[in-house]
Amino acid sequence: MAATNGKAYTIIDHTYDVVVVGAGGAGLRATLGCAEAGLKTACVTKVFPTRSHTVAAQGGVAASLGNMGPDNWRWHMYDTVKGSDWLGDQDSIEYLCRHAPAAVYEMEHYGVPFSRTEDGRIYQRPFGGMTTEFGEGPPAQRTCAAADRTGHAMLHTLYGQSLRHSAEFFVEYFALDLMMDADGACRGVVAMSLEDGGIHRFRARKTILATGGYGRAYFSCTSAHTCTGDGNAMVLRAGLPLQDMEFVQFHPTGIYGAGVLITEGARGEGGYLTNSEGERFMERYAPSAKDLASRDVVSRSMTMEIRDGRGVGAHGDHIFLHLDHLDPDILAERLPGITESAKVFAGVDLRRDQIPVIPTVHYNMGGIPTNYHGEVLTLKNGNPDHVVPGLMAIGEAACVSVHGANRLGSNSLIDLVVFGRAAGLRCADVVESGSQPDLPPETYEPALARLDRFRFASGGTPTSELRLKMQRVMQSNCAVFRDGPVLEEGVKLIDEIWHGSEDIRVSDRSLVWNSDLIETLEYDNLVAQAAVTVTGGANRTESRGAHAREDYPNRDDAEWMKHTLAWADYAKRKISIDYRPVHAYTLTNEMNYIEPKARVY
Ligand code: FUM
Repeated sequence: MAATNGKAYTIIDHTYDVVVVGAGGAGLRATLGCAEAGLKTACVTKVFPTRSHTVAAQGGVAASLGNMGPDNWRWHMYDTVKGSDWLGDQDSIEYLCRHAPAAVYEMEHYGVPFSRTEDGRIYQRPFGGMTTEFGEGPPAQRTCAAADRTGHAMLHTLYGQSLRHSAEFFVEYFALDLMMDADGACRGVVAMSLEDGGIHRFRARKTILATGGYGRAYFSCTSAHTCTGDGNAMVLRAGLPLQDMEFVQFHPTGIYGAGVLITEGARGEGGYLTNSEGERFMERYAPSAKDLASRDVVSRSMTMEIRDGRGVGAHGDHIFLHLDHLDPDILAERLPGITESAKVFAGVDLRRDQIPVIPTVHYNMGGIPTNYHGEVLTLKNGNPDHVVPGLMAIGEAACVSVHGANRLGSNSLIDLVVFGRAAGLRCADVVESGSQPDLPPETYEPALARLDRFRFASGGTPTSELRLKMQRVMQSNCAVFRDGPVLEEGVKLIDEIWHGSEDIRVSDRSLVWNSDLIETLEYDNLVAQAAVTVTGGANRTESRGAHAREDYPNRDDAEWMKHTLAWADYAKRKISIDYRPVHAYTLTNEMNYIEPKARVY
């Protein structure tokens, strides 16, 4: 038992070779890889694995299989570098694209029920920004799909395979903080069992954060309520930086009002967008790729149509997506999930009616800086690629950086499995099983002190009030288009809200399913990331990818082709910024560095 603030917690100790935090696609792929390699592996997750947010991924997973026409991993690499607006690290992008086909075939062999072509191969659909011949050829059909439930299929398969290899799962455990020692090494993680409030110390040689994005910092997003970036915030509290957090992706087709995702696969199958004049306006903005331009381009185009008075609906504030011209059999076979979502969340039968859609927060390009092995990096003694001992990160939580300033659709699921697999391989190479040294108190006491601070918080402001304020500020001050004054106002408002945490109130003091407490811990995680995001946006005086500054409309490679690193000073509630060079080199000589050029679709 450990007593804090006069209240005793039951402490349970565990020792593993590897502990993975998060059971989405990346976490499960890493868990499976480590367990398969014979490492004693635990996966700690706040939701049941098959309820992780990967379950909501619809359209597919990108890999140059070439099942529907010629394709090549080098074309995929070119598209990804261009999609990233040259902020991606080209060594990591090469790693992603060259390993993607093997990672997808591996998923097929594990049991993912991919949709099939007539001759039995994996079905692939077009997605935005995916082309052939280094951008000069026709669109590539590169996105491997299991109807429009690809993430669901992958998640279930990976969970089954992880169990088969005897990985141990701690389900409905909320990770409180990393256990960092005096030398700056990660020694594991402290988590709380939601069921009984027991405190679990997971000691491990490697801790892999696979905790996903933080979409819930915004008011309207496609992300689950659980997407609160808990790993990112743990990294900030450990005194380590996050990278490129100003780059937030808006998906063009969230259902108006509900925020629920309508897959880009809908446009891949022939869907198109129209304004209030019935015009297919994407032809003006992206004459070649049209509705299948990259997401940042489509989202900006939709926003401009709405601003110019050509939005649809009573308030002229959204856009229509048409699928009503498509063969109902194709819709039933390839897009059954969104057919149902359109009915439930927009009340429309997409076989006859248009779907009301609006750009909606969907993905965080930024996150925990890592190399392509999944090892966490920090800036130390002038070295921007210093590896933090014992700590790894993968999936949306990580910034490898393969997506740079803008991610292409279907490059997320492939990121999860390629880098989840890479992390497992790295652990298999470097982790030595066996006894581990004792944990000094400084490794776990800060986690318990923070827990108590919130558990017994008796201020005047309920968490829900602060959270709503934060979400509204992020939605209006850090949106598709930004400019200096609006971002600076956002920095000030988020700072006030963050300071408002001093007056936070938690009403429930119990330890059994205390959702008031957990939502408060999640809010505390979110608000620090909101501060990093809006501060990074105000600081970056250029436009690149998803970061579109109206006062700085051009990309500025001379000044800004560099990653932002941001640290949070919790005592002062201030963000400080430094930089890391973009890796302007490839992994092998089988592909040359792709020189920057104007990004047109
Ligand atoms: O539109 C979609 O199906 C989403 C895919 C993605 O974000 O990669």
